[in-house]
Amino acid sequence: MRISRRQSRRLFLKKMKKAIILVNAYTQSDTELHQPNRLKEELQLLGIQTEICRNDFFPAYVAGDCLATRLEDVDFCVYLDKDPYYSQILEGCGVRLFNCARAVFDCDDKMQTNIRLAAAGIPVVKTFSSPLCYTQTSAVNEGALDVLERELSYPIVVKECFGSLGKGVYLAENREQLSAYAEKFKLKPHVYQQFIAESAGVDVRVIAIGGEALVAMKRSSKTSDFRSNIELGGRGESYPLDDEIRALCGKISRTLSLDYCGIDLLFTKDGYAVCEVNSNAFFGGIEKITGVNVAKAYAEYINQTIYGGGK
Ligand SMILES: Nc1ncnc2c1ncn2[C@@H]1O[C@H](COP(=O)(O)OP(=O)(O)O)[C@@H](O)[C@H]1O
Ligand SMILES: [Mg+2]
Repeated sequence: MRISRRQSRRLFLKKMKKAIILVNAYTQSDTELHQPNRLKEELQLLGIQTEICRNDFFPAYVAGDCLATRLEDVDFCVYLDKDPYYSQILEGCGVRLFNCARAVFDCDDKMQTNIRLAAAGIPVVKTFSSPLCYTQTSAVNEGALDVLERELSYPIVVKECFGSLGKGVYLAENREQLSAYAEKFKLKPHVYQQFIAESAGVDVRVIAIGGEALVAMKRSSKTSDFRSNIELGGRGESYPLDDEIRALCGKISRTLSLDYCGIDLLFTKDGYAVCEVNSNAFFGGIEKITGVNVAKAYAEYINQTIYGGGK
């Protein structure tokens, strides 16, 4: 059977693998760009034509009674932003996102993550979400602080729900500090959490891909800071993946429908407890420390999921 030039071009186009990596419009720093650049390299090595785009070309929108997208010709989108609007519209238009909109949404907000995990029987830290306050002039209720003191006892961890890199995590050592944090953050979603003394200054960061733990590192603060984030000067070292970590990270990934994530685990006297789950975890640091090529593993997982593997 003869095929026309037009048909053959269509067949050729059909075979071409095409993807987009969507990043936040204000992404600028080398640290932020490392992630998309490395993923692009690894996807291209698998024969997937990949473009990195900032999301300020308005890739998706609503109009009339429709969801609309400008990404009609891609096979999938690696979604490295946390914007819940674009992700929902893109999925509504049939674009496969890595990670999916729901997963990014659930991980972005630390209280939301805790609720989803605890409801699935996954150990989290005792956490109270602050009542929402809508007016700057409203006073913090002293009775509410009494409850927190009774339930958690000092020191108490105070966290902004939408923080990262350790920047929105604080320790209140006494009533005066607790009261000051409550006042400072009353207009922002935040939580009060039990301080896990056994894990002061140390935790474990695990990267999981496709529901399987790939690599882990132990992070240790080099100062008196209880936060172990590398970005705050914490030091990382390889950490073995044991059965408990594998099972826990598998369950977390499945519960939150995550293709890729970085999971922070705290050491408690009863085993690990989840500190937080990052849907867009940077992998540059852990790659350097462990020698594991996370970008390659993620690209291969995506290639397998979308195309069944191969080039
Ligand atoms: N409840 C806690 N008890 C002890 N240490 C904690 C607790 N919560 C957080 N930390 C420490 O603070 C760090 C940052 O907290 P995390 O919730 O992961 O916020 P971020 O998103 O900013 O990394 C953790 O990696 C851990 O070292
Ligand atoms: Mg963290």
